[in-house]
Amino acid sequence: MIILLIIIFSALIFYLLKKNYEYWEKRGVPGPKPTWFFGNLGENFMMKKSLVEVYANVYHQYKKYPFVGIFKGVSPMLVVCEPEMIKEITVKSFQHFHDNDIEVDKKLDPVLGRNPFVLNGQEWKTVRSQLTPGFTSGKMKWIYPLLEDTSNQLVNFISNQPKATNGEGLESKDLCAKFTLNNVANCAFGLEAKAFTNESTEFQLIAKKFFESGIIQTLFFGLAQIFPILLKLIKIKLIPKEIEDRLANIVTQTLSYRKNNNVVRNDFLHILSQLKKTCKEYEFTDVDVTAHASGFFIDGYETSASVMSFVLHELAANGEAQATLREEIVGHFRDNDNKLSYEGLQGLPYLDAVIQETLRLHSPLFNLAKVCTKSYTYVPKKGDTISKPVLIEKGTPVVIPVAGIHKDPDFFEEPNEFKPERFIGDNKEKIVKYSFLPFGEGPRACLGQRFGTLQVKIGVAHVVKNFKLSVNGKTKMPLEYDPFAIITTPKGGMWIDFEKIE
Ligand code: HEM
Repeated sequence: MIILLIIIFSALIFYLLKKNYEYWEKRGVPGPKPTWFFGNLGENFMMKKSLVEVYANVYHQYKKYPFVGIFKGVSPMLVVCEPEMIKEITVKSFQHFHDNDIEVDKKLDPVLGRNPFVLNGQEWKTVRSQLTPGFTSGKMKWIYPLLEDTSNQLVNFISNQPKATNGEGLESKDLCAKFTLNNVANCAFGLEAKAFTNESTEFQLIAKKFFESGIIQTLFFGLAQIFPILLKLIKIKLIPKEIEDRLANIVTQTLSYRKNNNVVRNDFLHILSQLKKTCKEYEFTDVDVTAHASGFFIDGYETSASVMSFVLHELAANGEAQATLREEIVGHFRDNDNKLSYEGLQGLPYLDAVIQETLRLHSPLFNLAKVCTKSYTYVPKKGDTISKPVLIEKGTPVVIPVAGIHKDPDFFEEPNEFKPERFIGDNKEKIVKYSFLPFGEGPRACLGQRFGTLQVKIGVAHVVKNFKLSVNGKTKMPLEYDPFAIITTPKGGMWIDFEKIE
């Protein structure tokens, strides 16, 4: 009897899975054959390939179609290939693909759960418009002297590190994370993180704990990629309570110091504290202030450190580009005080191109994971590679494989080469719209793009003006990405030797 039940149960599972995996075929959507239970992400689950590679491979194989149907475990998922379709999803039919494919329980994770990146629907819209005034170009100009100060600290730090010049080398991400930690602490909270000193500060501790907690997040999100149901069934707190408490303490103490000493500082924390008085949509509490001030740290610290570390690596590996950049920069530093003005920094096309080209090669967010929030029907165009209308059902995850698109030779000739010239003058004009997406596109594009780019630019300009960079032998070349990292991370780090320019 038991054997009979097992046979019937197995046959039922077999039947249901078979039906399930016919989902895209029935709709006339092309796609690679899934393996049972793991769908099309099995190679990542088996640690054979990073998610970057898995999605990029799907993209390269099927890029003549507007989109491809794959399976995340047993769940159908769409991978978008065509720039026109990316525009449709991120801009034109934004109301059908409004949210990011991530679920965070606000009760369990009060800080992360309030981040615009994870918010949905109207709540996202309200918070996004509340935070936008913190990122205007006027605000960037205001914080510029703070970034200049940190850039000088960065140069002094490198100058005083024997390892920078004795052949041992400095690890690029580690170095850049000190720089961005100081910037974020200063610009968002008005505090000194002192990341270039041996002094242990609250911010350094938070950053350390934050990186440690990243391991849990990586494991959990890795598993949830294949078995998304896990995200619904198992509730895991993604930011440890200790980090939240420490951040809340910083915010409370800073605000009470400002109040008691009549200090008004035109920064992000000030904007947030004002929202407590002006927000009409809901009660803006201390938890909201802490969550959004911390959001600046969560969103802005590691992403920018990652971009800057890859920029320094690419410059170290490409001597000619480094020399061209130095030539452009040097003349813009003022003779009298050796400073680079805000306006001066905006007028450096080669620096801009170096950063764009690095973002093309190593975008920190290698995929954009969206979800269909309102069913959408794709109607094929004349001569389309999809033959009949396709209903994309509400709830379907939709991935934009940024890394795959960025390395498509149809959009970027010799895509694995570092060629900043692609982003200059006429070449820049020729870049196909929606084929370059390091900050996303449309209403949900990165809110901190201006701040992120500004801090990377000023940091890189100061380093390149003061040092010649070369790749230290400890760097594994060509770079290989860590299959489990949530943001693009090279295995073994990127080590750089510095030679002071007198
Ligand atoms: C240079 C470094 C950075 C890169 C490459 C980057 C990239 C991105 C990307 C790709 C997205 C997703 C866009 C989408 O879903 O379409 C995003 C979202 C976001 N980023 Fe950044 N980011 C950077 C720095 C920052 C900084 C410095 C901040 C804030 C201080 C920030 C705040 C945000 C926020 C709040 C969102 C969510 C936007 C929303 O859903 O409305 N980012 N970022």
